[in-house]
Amino acid sequence: MRQVKIFDTTLRDGEQSPGCSMNLREKIEVARCLEKMKVDVIEAGFAISSPGDFESVNTIAKHVKECTVASLARASRKDIDTAWEAVKVAADPRIHLFIATSPLHMQYKLKMTEDEVLERAAAMVAYAKKYCSNIEFSAEDATRSDLQFLAKVVNAAVKNGATVVNIPDTVGYTTPEEMRATIEYLIAHVENSDRVEFSVHCHNDLGMAVANSLAGVMGGARQIECTVNGLGERAGNTALEEVVMAMRTRPDVFADVNTRIDSTQIYRASRTVYNIIGQTAPLNKPIVGRNAFAHESGIHQHGVLSNKKTYEILTPEAIGIHANNIVLGKHSGKHAFEDHLQKLGYNLSPEELLKCFDEFKALCDKKKSVSDADIEAIVNHNATADETATTEGYKLDWFAVHTSNFTTATSTVCLKKGEEKFEEVCLGDGPIDAAFQAIDKVVKPGPHTFDIYTINSISEGKDTLGDVKVRLTTGDKSYTGRGLSTDIIEASILAYIEAVNKMQAAKKREEA
Ligand code: KIV
Ligand code: ZN
Repeated sequence: MRQVKIFDTTLRDGEQSPGCSMNLREKIEVARCLEKMKVDVIEAGFAISSPGDFESVNTIAKHVKECTVASLARASRKDIDTAWEAVKVAADPRIHLFIATSPLHMQYKLKMTEDEVLERAAAMVAYAKKYCSNIEFSAEDATRSDLQFLAKVVNAAVKNGATVVNIPDTVGYTTPEEMRATIEYLIAHVENSDRVEFSVHCHNDLGMAVANSLAGVMGGARQIECTVNGLGERAGNTALEEVVMAMRTRPDVFADVNTRIDSTQIYRASRTVYNIIGQTAPLNKPIVGRNAFAHESGIHQHGVLSNKKTYEILTPEAIGIHANNIVLGKHSGKHAFEDHLQKLGYNLSPEELLKCFDEFKALCDKKKSVSDADIEAIVNHNATADETATTEGYKLDWFAVHTSNFTTATSTVCLKKGEEKFEEVCLGDGPIDAAFQAIDKVVKPGPHTFDIYTINSISEGKDTLGDVKVRLTTGDKSYTGRGLSTDIIEASILAYIEAVNKMQAAKKREEA
């Protein structure tokens, strides 16, 4: 059996895409999910790109024990020094360095000749090797590079100590046949190719990232680079959940390959990432979309009732979706709550448990029955909360709205900060707009754009929890807020306050 490693780059290539930035607490939570899912490598960031990135790579390197932790670096000494400084505390550190090899990139971006690129690649791999035994070399835009030149560069990287050679399809241009042939060619033409791991890193511009990655594996690649939910620049990267479940669902095709992924953690990781970036899965998203296991048509429902396999090639349980057994309610105590959370796979600290239990109790007062989905929403939300923003920021004290379809909506919002209370009233285009304006009057958040407002229901039934996500952007940073309540106006206000608090906390940190 050939082990295919899963290299997750949600925190680097994923986070680098517009609107997907995460704060440190959020990145740590994603890393925790990835470690639990048993990915082999976590690319924690691009250490030299900003002090914030350095700190998050370094913190994740300290936290993660069961996976290799990598930092990206360009093929330059300063990048490599910084990457090493950030990851050297990891249980198993890796430096991932890259340089472009395609004519377009070499001429217009790097302004270097083939010989210069070849020499730089060799020298920088050798330089990084002095620090770290685990070196990954990537030939950026490999799939638009001259194959013979690509083999030359890879040869030089391997000779100088690269242990992993990654072939990125940087602009999502290749096809499955081409990707397979490229890997086969390199394995055949690079000296000692059996001593290195070949890796594929595909972007999804033409919707072929998963197919191209799988073709790479058929050609001999032993590592797939991917992101949770396929997050990433433009159309995204290879989706981890899709590529892993494809191999698992078709053992007849991928007979000799295996990953060590615990697939029952996929759903949780997917939800965590979507919640952090303030998005929800498209309904028809493979594996993790709401409709991925829904059977609407009569013929399908009939088939599934007779035998699930008629229309289901994988089960919801395989990715960690469990039937919503309603077992907890108003009279459940803290121990029962904790016990139930453990069955769902959550081990919370005493403080986290107390906070979630309080929210659970408050929900029990509003809702007849509390489902697993409600409980998971509460726990996930608490896990990614920005503590400074929550403790030092504004809190909702109360709100009141007046609205009808023949008058202008009015909202009054009272916020608290410490012992102080601030009350404002505003007219608006509906009660939510009026409430947001009232909050702005108190908080004065400064210039920003309001990018995303989504509202979803957590479970079924008219008394379902409303799940509101809001995303605000200022400069190149985005801040998401999430609000959960059976009242959608309250959920919206909570989400907006959370986003604004995060934005202000980040501003303060920057000023400090
Ligand atoms: O897409 C790409 O080429 C990359 C490399 C830096 C690995 O992300
Ligand atoms: Zn990429």
